[in-house]
Amino acid sequence: MKLAAAAVSRGFEHRMRAFNFAAGPAAMPTEVLEQVASELFDWRGSGASVMEVSHRSKAFIEVALAAESDLRELLGIGGDYRVLFMQGGASAQFAAIPLNLAGPEARVDYLVTGAWSKKALEEAGRYCRVNVAADEAPSGYCTVPNARALALSADAAYVHYTPNETIGGVEFPYVPEGGAVPLVADMSSTLLSRPLDVARFGLIYAGAQKNIGPAGLTVVIVRDELLGRARALTPAVWDYRQVADEASMLNTPPTFAWYVAGLVFKWLRAQGGLHAMGERNRVKAQRLYAAIDASGFYCNPVAQNCRSWMNVPFTLAQPGLDGEFLTAAAAAGLTNLAGHRLVGGLRASLYNAMPLAGVEALIAFMKEFERRHG
Ligand SMILES: Cc1ncc(COP(=O)(O)O)c(C=O)c1O
Repeated sequence: MKLAAAAVSRGFEHRMRAFNFAAGPAAMPTEVLEQVASELFDWRGSGASVMEVSHRSKAFIEVALAAESDLRELLGIGGDYRVLFMQGGASAQFAAIPLNLAGPEARVDYLVTGAWSKKALEEAGRYCRVNVAADEAPSGYCTVPNARALALSADAAYVHYTPNETIGGVEFPYVPEGGAVPLVADMSSTLLSRPLDVARFGLIYAGAQKNIGPAGLTVVIVRDELLGRARALTPAVWDYRQVADEASMLNTPPTFAWYVAGLVFKWLRAQGGLHAMGERNRVKAQRLYAAIDASGFYCNPVAQNCRSWMNVPFTLAQPGLDGEFLTAAAAAGLTNLAGHRLVGGLRASLYNAMPLAGVEALIAFMKEFERRHG
């Protein structure tokens, strides 16, 4: 039985598109892929693909500026923030952040809630003195710290946290209060999933390959006053001041990824913006967690108050059946449901491009699998 089927629209002939639950690179909106396909060989009548033209051409600069202005509109980014389109993924930011925001003797605070915040902390430890302001190891990284129990340093150069841990499926239900200390957030797997009060943050960063667009692009949103503090040895391409001064074109940017991200931003606006997306994402996640909790066969270990809307890890009562589950799911058009290689099990990622119909198809499949094996 084929549970999943996807859009066939506007005269495009698709091969069957699966409901793709990958954690990243992740599913793209079908409408965006249709537009990319329609423009691939002849972009705006130029006789060339967008990936074949100069990043300094008037036409590409228009695309770059429109992407920034649509992102600003979606997130309500104030004029006192710069938006940078960088490379190197979120992992490069793990190093760029301490290099730009903290001297070698400075203290920086890190909240550790899973694999990605731990990686960020380890990298920062190479460049400055790191204080672990919270570590959720005792719960097996299934919780977030109590907002009032953070061991923050008054003199920290910044506080870093990971609002959504993509592997563990743990998401902060609150924004930590750093007082005068700038708050830095790795939003790789949650940016654009719902409205956000950007003004609470000193710096937000995200690899594109989940809710933004193709891998290769990294978005950094940084408060103006944090620019110009980079250590002298910081490579120019990682120096926020230099990147901002050159409008993210200090060197050749990932033009194709930037163009596709711009189309995703327009798609998000056409969907009703982040309020509409947030409501959809809330419903999608609630349905899946409710189905898991109602069964005796599936289990999600994360505390109720911090379950991720974007990444839903789960296990089977009989882990030996994981392979069969994945094979049968893929045959039904439900793909990329394997958990991260570090933790195993299963994981459904429900980014913006995953429609409610995909979640419902997954739930129906899970019920049928449980009926046969539970
Ligand atoms: C929360 C989070 N931070 C950082 C990373 C690393 O991103 P990149 O591969 O772009 O360096 C990921 C990747 O999935 C992630 O989910």
